[in-house]
Amino acid sequence: MKAVVNTQYGPPEVLHLMDVEKPTPKKNELLIKIHATTVNRTDCGFRDPQYFIVRLVGGLFRPKKKILGSEFAGVVEEIGNDVKAFKQGDSVFGLSTINFGAHAEYICIAEEKSIGLKPVNMSYNEAAAICDGAFLALSNIKKIDFKAGIKILVNGASGSIGSAAMQLAIYFGAEVTAVCNTGSLELMKSLGATEVIDFTNEDFTKRDNQVFDVIIDAVGKSSFFKCKKLLKPKGLYFSSELGYLSQNIYLALLTPLLGGKKVLFPIPKDTKEDILFFKKIIEEGKYKAIIDRIYRLEQIVEATKYVETGQKTGNVVINME
Ligand SMILES: NC(=O)c1ccc[n+]([C@@H]2O[C@H](COP(=O)([O-])OP(=O)(O)OC[C@H]3O[C@@H](n4cnc5c(N)ncnc54)[C@H](OP(=O)(O)O)[C@@H]3O)[C@@H](O)[C@H]2O)c1
Repeated sequence: MKAVVNTQYGPPEVLHLMDVEKPTPKKNELLIKIHATTVNRTDCGFRDPQYFIVRLVGGLFRPKKKILGSEFAGVVEEIGNDVKAFKQGDSVFGLSTINFGAHAEYICIAEEKSIGLKPVNMSYNEAAAICDGAFLALSNIKKIDFKAGIKILVNGASGSIGSAAMQLAIYFGAEVTAVCNTGSLELMKSLGATEVIDFTNEDFTKRDNQVFDVIIDAVGKSSFFKCKKLLKPKGLYFSSELGYLSQNIYLALLTPLLGGKKVLFPIPKDTKEDILFFKKIIEEGKYKAIIDRIYRLEQIVEATKYVETGQKTGNVVINME
């Protein structure tokens, strides 16, 4: 099969499209023919690690997983003898966070992992584009007590994690203020934001007439200290980045002991239960895939370079149909 292989850490050019052996499913696994995958910031973070912790997980000197790609949507081509919940020909979508492997024509994944039947109202491109940002956002959303009238600000609401965090917060009943680029203002309103702030015109942290229960910095460009005065006395701050000198880790350990405004930094964990939750809210019409650009697998270097500009709106898809 064709796959994008990287045998060393480095710039996008370490990614090479080549022929590799097609995987064979174990007893509890499905062999999926991938119709769509994505290039996301997690792929980029594991291809060229900026944090030492990534090397601890992904390989100290060279990558242990040589095929990246964590999101996929496709069709079950073969099943192992013990597989009960899926059959040949099922359309599925899911996430392969630890093993990656979705930048290829086929992937094997155990049926108990984060995989579910594809939402009936989504294309393969759309279904591939919801998983990574949605799971990362959900790990924050799960920590929030959604009481009536809750107000949440999402910084970087036009990104993959941000657009997911915003849609989930609205789904659970929050009033959301979205901070995004000029080109995404209308999109944010269409997704249900109560208020939109164009970060190119205004620094939201300078506001002194508004407070929020929760601030989610989904692009990691702000900080707890800049946002603190915009938080209510027991307000919560989340960030998708470790922050200057990894401060968000230390603040997440310290601030809960002090009893006031808190930084939380939950470790994301994807589950099958979450995949089924996303399938449900997508089919209810309450959650949409946001796609910026679609590339082919042969264009993986170009797609990766675009993702690394940090300027995508939502997600970048690789179509393999
Ligand atoms: N914690 C984790 O496990 C994890 C995993 C994956 C990614 N991440 C991190 O999470 C962050 C977001 O990733 P993503 O894929 O969701 O984002 P993204 O898709 O790369 O997009 C970022 C979006 O934020 C907007 N933006 C840029 N600067 C901004 C600012 N100062 N204020 C408000 N909006 C701004 C960009 O708009 P423009 O087009 O105008 O620039 C773009 O639409 C990245 O820093 C990434 O490294 C964390």
